[in-house]
Amino acid sequence: MAQQHEHVGMNKTGIQMSPLETGRMLDDDDILTRGTPGDDSAALQLREAYIADSGGVGSIPAPGTVTGMVSMGVNMLTGDKPQILLDKMAERLAFERTGTRLYDALLTKLDVLQADSAAAASMGSITREQAASIRGDEARHMLLMKEAIESMGGDPTAQTPSADVVGVESMGMVQVLNDPRTSLSQSLHAILTIELCDNAGWETLIALAEEGGHDKLVDRFSDALVQERTHLSLVQTWYEETVGLSAAGLSGAGSASSDAGGIVRARAGVVPGTSGSGPNLGTGAMRAAASPAEVSGDGGAGVTPGGGAPGKDPGKPKP
Ligand SMILES: [Fe+2]
Ligand SMILES: [Fe+2]
Repeated sequence: MAQQHEHVGMNKTGIQMSPLETGRMLDDDDILTRGTPGDDSAALQLREAYIADSGGVGSIPAPGTVTGMVSMGVNMLTGDKPQILLDKMAERLAFERTGTRLYDALLTKLDVLQADSAAAASMGSITREQAASIRGDEARHMLLMKEAIESMGGDPTAQTPSADVVGVESMGMVQVLNDPRTSLSQSLHAILTIELCDNAGWETLIALAEEGGHDKLVDRFSDALVQERTHLSLVQTWYEETVGLSAAGLSGAGSASSDAGGIVRARAGVVPGTSGSGPNLGTGAMRAAASPAEVSGDGGAGVTPGGGAPGKDPGKPKP
């Protein structure tokens, strides 16, 4: 089983492990690893030429149905940019699909760790039920996005440019989570990265939907963002616990700095239970609103702050 705590071992990657060879290398003017004298302007010019000639990453497909064509045409006539919203919705669909698979990989690690009493003791407060519940949220968000794309006349199976790019971005996270050697802490760091990105992605999507006047989508996306905020809060707690931070040292455990701006950069009032003019709250406030006890473990109702039904929270985010 992978080590769950970083340990001192036979790591020889640093130059301090070979002081004699390091000295010889630094004294040798002809050593190959130093490279040839000169500049990298030729390489830069080559890259610039490729960038200038590139046609971009694919295109946004035109709707494949008459209804979709009419819908997009009407929106474009009114000055809206439905193609941008469709591209970003496809991005979120791709991201949520990958997120679901990442949580599946995390659940596999949790199962292995929980079967080992020594490893289980270092897991912190994370439970399989909580992680499975978040996994259920991610899967539902993907289906929500499928429905939203179809409601705009788009094709949810299309790989748009932003969906393509976000897939490439996520490749490192997929590698980390599926590497059998990575510890729970290392896996949670990767999950924390995607939750941070996820929150920002939903905020952008809500703003785009609002600009386009898609009020129903804004409401549904806002409900998803409330859940994403809870994911982020929980995952950061789990990560910091596995790093070894004491309860007092956890982000949001009373330190003013963590709440003053915080990791969660809420759009104005994008916090459950606050008004649109209220101050942005950071991780600490979100964590307070998302204690593990409030996380549904049934995988069906979602992880909703306050235990309310998704979509019914009066304090849902409004960008
Ligand atoms: Fe998500
Ligand atoms: Fe999430």
